[in-house]
Amino acid sequence: AKRIGILTSGGDCPGLNAVIRGAVKTANRLGFDTIGFLKGYEGLVDPVQYVPLNDENTRGILGRGGTILGSTNKGRFAATVGINDRVELCPQLMKKVKGTFDQLSLSGLICIGGDGSLAVAQQFHEYGLPVVGVPKTIDNDLSATAFTFGFDSAVECGTEALDRLQTTAASHERIMVMEVMGRHAGWIALHSGIGGGADVILIPEIQWNFDIVCEKILERYKAGKKFTLIVVAEGAHLPDKGMVTQESEKSDRQTRLGGIGQIIAAEIERRLHFEARTVVLGHLQRGGAPTTFDRVLATQFGAHAVRTIVERRFGHMVCYSPPNIESVPILEAVHQLRTVHPDSSAVQAAQAMGISFGNCAL
Ligand code: F6P
Repeated sequence: AKRIGILTSGGDCPGLNAVIRGAVKTANRLGFDTIGFLKGYEGLVDPVQYVPLNDENTRGILGRGGTILGSTNKGRFAATVGINDRVELCPQLMKKVKGTFDQLSLSGLICIGGDGSLAVAQQFHEYGLPVVGVPKTIDNDLSATAFTFGFDSAVECGTEALDRLQTTAASHERIMVMEVMGRHAGWIALHSGIGGGADVILIPEIQWNFDIVCEKILERYKAGKKFTLIVVAEGAHLPDKGMVTQESEKSDRQTRLGGIGQIIAAEIERRLHFEARTVVLGHLQRGGAPTTFDRVLATQFGAHAVRTIVERRFGHMVCYSPPNIESVPILEAVHQLRTVHPDSSAVQAAQAMGISFGNCAL
């Protein structure tokens, strides 16, 4: 029988299961068997680990967070990948992967992953294997797709957290600094900041400084608003490099463990003598049920990925080009980050709401 394989690779993200379900239902209708490899690309080799996927074991997963297939973002396929890096998998590994494709007679493999995982898929493609990609990241920073699934769910989490922080901040007349995910881009910070009524949004794309952030807090104070909500993307740059271990030297791990939010809160307390508190949302933004928007987008991605295989457009990645789902060469997608443009209408609307980006006088 014709057979399609599916795997989820890299960090998890709400909507992965909806993609799996969407792909399985579509493929089965078109007469394909479906199997799911476990733990990302690791499931393809030594030992090959997979499960048959069907109506029964994909039932009820549409709204479930995480991935039923498991995922790995380290291991043998991680290499040293990143945006603009090429992955060089060793020939022995590639041979084994090809062996798995042959042994299981795969008509195609759907790789659901972020930039690093898609770079691996691209390498498979260059090796002649029939793969298609499905972009995945809560950060929404992949080029060639207007949105990635998981982003809306992460933003929803940030907005809800701000709603909660607002009441406690107001009661205690405090400055609340909420650190959200976004390693290279400020999309989550921008959208949850607008959605949750933040007063200050700090993102990697806009250079900011403490003088202006403090000015904003004081201006609010003088107007009788004795609390301030600040949202900061984890990847935002500190204005004074001397404040921490040199920003440029900060390891990826340090970035992931959080930190900029606390530094900002401490510096505000030092300068203004107002009480400040920090919340690092971290993986709360990645866990739990996907929003309706993400379920719909993920379902369409899953269905379209199968069609992309049927049409033999290998080496392509599905993408959202509103109002349609289309596909583009993976290569186009993995080598370009999509970041927030400082002059974008969302930034302008935020400014019109009085939100400060810490970059210019009020
Ligand atoms: O890229 C998605 C993301 O959630 C980033 O926003 C964050 O920095 C990173 O993954 C966290 O990765 P990990 O789960 O490996 O700590």
